[in-house]
Amino acid sequence: MPNKLQKFADFKAFSNCSHLPFEEIHSGHPLKGLWKKDFFGNNNPIVLELGCGRGEYTIGLAKNNSNKNFIGVDIKGNRIWTGAKYAIENKLKNVAFIRTRIDFIEHCFSENEIDEIWITFPDPQPTKPRIRKRLTNILFLNRYFKFLKPDGLLHLKTDNTGFYEYTLEVIQENNFKLLYSTADLYNFNPTNTNELTTIQTYYENLFSAKGEKIKYCCWKR
Ligand SMILES: C[S@@+](CC[C@H](N)C(=O)[O-])C[C@H]1O[C@@H](n2cnc3c(N)ncnc32)[C@H](O)[C@@H]1O
Repeated sequence: MPNKLQKFADFKAFSNCSHLPFEEIHSGHPLKGLWKKDFFGNNNPIVLELGCGRGEYTIGLAKNNSNKNFIGVDIKGNRIWTGAKYAIENKLKNVAFIRTRIDFIEHCFSENEIDEIWITFPDPQPTKPRIRKRLTNILFLNRYFKFLKPDGLLHLKTDNTGFYEYTLEVIQENNFKLLYSTADLYNFNPTNTNELTTIQTYYENLFSAKGEKIKYCCWKR
């Protein structure tokens, strides 16, 4: 396994990876508004995974849905490395990764460019001063709405009861439409898709092994 430095060098060279640092947000991501035309070369819907870590969900969904494009976003390039390398070695042309802070995500995409968003096992940010850092805080949701299609679905998968309940409150307070929710996905899957239970991420496996029940909800504006 390469060390962190080697992974950073690889990341720069990988054709499916890009980096948007803070210093460059004013000019936006070079592919903003151009992802379909200039990167994927097709007109298929684009699905984002926020806080993708090693990219298991991005990769799993991309393998099952060749008619959609997938972009994983995380600040940690050495984690993204795993998914990006897998996608290159397995010729998954419908996969890309962006290394950036999700706080700047609106600089990566244009209005209506994104069809769907997954948030997988986000950091729970349990303390009060960190509430603004939660990826389902209304400040973050309003950033996503700048580029998510009006009917676009948002999905949350988490082991954390506090984060799950907080997200349900945000959905209710803002009159969003809750489509599905379950506090125990593996005993009750409210959707007609098994993608929710057949793709597991690194953190999902970690917390499932500790006996945590996996929670899921899906909503739209
Ligand atoms: C608990 S890990 C989950 C990773 C992966 N989704 C999984 O389930 O294995 C949370 C991930 O979100 C990323 N993250 C948290 N806040 C972020 C932010 N504001 N911007 C970019 N990445 C963030 C972290 O770097 C980390 O990789």
